[in-house]
Amino acid sequence: MPSGDEIRDVQQATWAGLSAGWEKWDPVIMDQLGPVGTAIIERLDIAGEQQHLDIAAGTGEPGLTVARLAPRGHVVLTDLAAEMLDIAARRANAQGITNFETKVCSADDLPFGDATFDSVSVRFGYMFFPDVAKATAEFARVLKPGGRLCSSVWARPEENPWTTIAVQAIAAEVVLAPPVPDGPNMFRCAAPGYVSALYEAAGLRDVAEWNVDVELVTRSPTQYWEMISEHVSLAVAALQQADEPTRKRIAKAVITTASTYEQDGKVRIPGMARCIVGTK
Ligand SMILES: C[S@@+](CC[C@H](N)C(=O)[O-])C[C@H]1O[C@@H](n2cnc3c(N)ncnc32)[C@H](O)[C@@H]1O
Repeated sequence: MPSGDEIRDVQQATWAGLSAGWEKWDPVIMDQLGPVGTAIIERLDIAGEQQHLDIAAGTGEPGLTVARLAPRGHVVLTDLAAEMLDIAARRANAQGITNFETKVCSADDLPFGDATFDSVSVRFGYMFFPDVAKATAEFARVLKPGGRLCSSVWARPEENPWTTIAVQAIAAEVVLAPPVPDGPNMFRCAAPGYVSALYEAAGLRDVAEWNVDVELVTRSPTQYWEMISEHVSLAVAALQQADEPTRKRIAKAVITTASTYEQDGKVRIPGMARCIVGTK
């Protein structure tokens, strides 16, 4: 098992490298993940003066939506990768949002005092943290008493064809390293109750989890593959090991499978997230 520092270094480099893909495909990604942001925000009871912390904020969601809902409040967007937060700042500027700041830090070592925030969100960040229990203890520490933590993770691979159809086609052509047990990967937190147990161990109460459906919508099977191959870490890494004929075979297989999801002139591929809420 790699050390915490090694995991952080790999994650930082990985997300710095993926940031251009996330910015290029921002509208498609934000449409896909939007229902999960909405579900998280609904449970956080955002007030006009909310002091909110968004962990692993990446390109800014759901933190920037919270900032819009809390015009007299303040949102801190944090992430390990400065390149992702630079995109968040550009998105905020384009939307005229000013009540936010960005801070590069790791989720398991937060540079904030105890009981600073009314709420904390973590949309699709948990799976990548070096120490998920330590990170959860940090979220509980910086929450005010009565404040809420709400996060989301991906449910099992079979519930998420939007990514597994590409991964299966890649695995048929490229030898993929087996995932490190309990190391960072998209489905590390997929087991029902996994994140709830972390919340309870950190002393949070009224812990609940529920599933949220998502749909990845692209204009065509080809656009689906372009998007996945430019922003999903496993796909990007695997394609770097493949030669040109192999890349072409993978693309052909993925596009063929994606075309089975065509409906009303678009490609609509489903997925499922799990949201988890708890109160300090
Ligand atoms: C899938 S993106 C999610 C971005 C955003 N929350 C969203 O839902 O659109 C995962 C993010 O986790 C960040 N990340 C990975 N390890 C981290 C860590 N140890 N601490 C904080 N952020 C981390 C990555 O840099 C990346 O921006």
